[in-house]
Amino acid sequence: MRRKTKVVLGFPGHFKEVAVLLDAGEPIPWAHDAELKVVGKRVPRVEGPEKVSGRARYTFDLKLPGMLHAAVLRCPHPHARIKAIDVSKARSHPEVRAVLALEEMEHKFAGAEVAAVAATSLEAAREALDLIEVQYEVLPFVTDPAQARLPGAPLVRAEGNVDISVTKKRGNLKEAFRSSGAVVEVVVRTPVALHACLEGHGSLAQWDGDRLIAWDSTQAVFDVRNSLASALKVPEEKVRIIKDHAGGGFGSKLQMWPHTPIVARLAKLAGAPVRLLLSRREDFLCTGNRQSSVQTVKLAAKKDGTFTALSWETYGTGGVEGVAQTSGPIDDMYRFPSLEVHEEDVFTNAGPGCPMRAPGHVQGMVALEAAIDAVSETLGLDPLEVRLKNDKSAIRREELKLGAARFGWHRRRPSGCDPGPLKRGLGVAGTTWDGSGLPGTEAEVTIGPGDRVEVSCGTQDIGTGTRTILAQVVAEELSLPVQEVTVRLGDSYFPYSVLSGGSLTAACVTPAARTAAGRVRELLLRLAAPKLGAGPEELELSEREIVVRGTGKRLSWSSALQSAPEGSLSAQAERPANYAGFEAGAAGCQFAEVEVDTETGQVRVVRVVAVHDSGRILNPLLWESQVNGGIIQGISFALLEQRVMDHRFGKVLTTNLETYKVLGALEVPEIEIIPFLVAAGFNNTQVVGIGEPAIIPTAASVANAVANALGFRIDDLPITPDKIVMALESRAQEQA
Ligand code: MOS
Repeated sequence: MRRKTKVVLGFPGHFKEVAVLLDAGEPIPWAHDAELKVVGKRVPRVEGPEKVSGRARYTFDLKLPGMLHAAVLRCPHPHARIKAIDVSKARSHPEVRAVLALEEMEHKFAGAEVAAVAATSLEAAREALDLIEVQYEVLPFVTDPAQARLPGAPLVRAEGNVDISVTKKRGNLKEAFRSSGAVVEVVVRTPVALHACLEGHGSLAQWDGDRLIAWDSTQAVFDVRNSLASALKVPEEKVRIIKDHAGGGFGSKLQMWPHTPIVARLAKLAGAPVRLLLSRREDFLCTGNRQSSVQTVKLAAKKDGTFTALSWETYGTGGVEGVAQTSGPIDDMYRFPSLEVHEEDVFTNAGPGCPMRAPGHVQGMVALEAAIDAVSETLGLDPLEVRLKNDKSAIRREELKLGAARFGWHRRRPSGCDPGPLKRGLGVAGTTWDGSGLPGTEAEVTIGPGDRVEVSCGTQDIGTGTRTILAQVVAEELSLPVQEVTVRLGDSYFPYSVLSGGSLTAACVTPAARTAAGRVRELLLRLAAPKLGAGPEELELSEREIVVRGTGKRLSWSSALQSAPEGSLSAQAERPANYAGFEAGAAGCQFAEVEVDTETGQVRVVRVVAVHDSGRILNPLLWESQVNGGIIQGISFALLEQRVMDHRFGKVLTTNLETYKVLGALEVPEIEIIPFLVAAGFNNTQVVGIGEPAIIPTAASVANAVANALGFRIDDLPITPDKIVMALESRAQEQA
């Protein structure tokens, strides 16, 4: 399929728009990179055939001879102390091989781990849980963050239920609010959301003497190795973590959760491998969430739309753990001469929060962009013009213009002007993120013996396509087709890599792999040089041959490798530091068009246009897949997702995917993605991560589009039909 895509080539401060035709398989042209070979092509995922044929093995698919199955007894109360626990009946169950009563005697959320068993079947393990007798002293609890902030609320932590996480102040807010052309205040609420990975959490542990191998569904094999070694009090080098395929993580698999050491301890006790796979319910209660927010945002602007002051007051909860701050993006995007920020993390008796895809930025952007639309509305200005006037990033300003033209922003009409029951609305929001990588990651490239070309790196492919971009970079460096490179990853016995989070992976692993491959290439040329009677600098690689440039002289790799020890060459390299002096963030913006049915309250997102830059795009197919995923997850957050807690009992009501709704395929709108290519040039693969930037603006743009359709704002997410119908009803009553 041939489609016309507008591609912008340029450097910060200098842009040139060109319209080019892109085919499937055709690379995106780069101003500085005319001779693209492999990197930049739409290479399908190298593990694709394995995944679609069901051969790819996830932790849930792993079986070992003699493997036992584990189940965990969980505290049914939101806050309780264990007075007595008796596991003797469970221990005498004929199929039970190990029972573990955990040391922790006070539990602060419903779902916390109390005891665990390993048995020859899962059914037996669950039966044995029923045989464990626990006497609980039920303690006062609080799950509602508004309640938890009040004096006299039950204490979740001895230090108190509130941490002030951010305070910031500059300029003269009072004066700005008094003298500005318009001042608006919005109160935006976002719910606790859940990662809802297709693949839940699980671990399989096997001991060999004092050495432990654990297969763990994780975004961070090395971090889990370190945490597990420390939990078990064994040396790190005795622990090996393996993660082959993963069905998503979104931040919920960045850290080790209690089930992993539980499995390892049961395996030790039983003297057999033990596997534990959490149910969806356990996953939803215990392995992280996106913290809720209540954000009171006051924005002042001059009559021409120039911002003068912003006040940002928030609180939110992730439960017993977790940082709820949302102000991360505000200073990175727009100019606010006067600014005041006060943020509170509130602790409640609920499962722990943790990072979730663009932590805080998703929630914060909803509030920030809501306030900008509200102030534009008050001043009678076009919200796009107001953004262009205040946005600090030259790149994002260009992206906004490009996206607006493509989206047809000129079609946006005054808010709430549709006469019929079906109302259309358009909205826009921006994004900012720094995914330019961290130091530390290493990769090793080996060629030979025989046809072997292999890159190994401990990193994990959490479903984003890490295998494929590693293969591309090494293939390009060694002048080979992508399919000839074998990628080995997801193993803490391989060279060190940082976790796969923070949109870091591409910018961490590919520079290391390119450096290692370049070193192997050098070694190969040096080996071949005397045989070809030429200097290494006169040689180049071409499809498994070493060629003397400008002559017909050539030598096959295999002949050259004969003189290498064991017929192979290998090099390991650490990721080089980013070159100094380059901007390396990712900007972007998204435009959403919605249709609101005022009779049913249903919101349908009709179309999204997304413009994103992220350095050099290594593989447009994978890159677009990240943007699609971000938009889909973002719409889901705007319209559907919410963990519902019954505050009377401290129990989560949405413990499965029937009650915790996520966007389905039929609700996905038409999505158009425009790559905005900024030749950043800050490391040897020039890539910036796109995983998180892609979700940041979506919910904000949808909420703004709904406000444009209705003529009033619903700032309480998710924007569900009941809220729309009730808001319309109360407005009708006010007018009557
Ligand atoms: Mo992400 S929240 O760093 O997986």
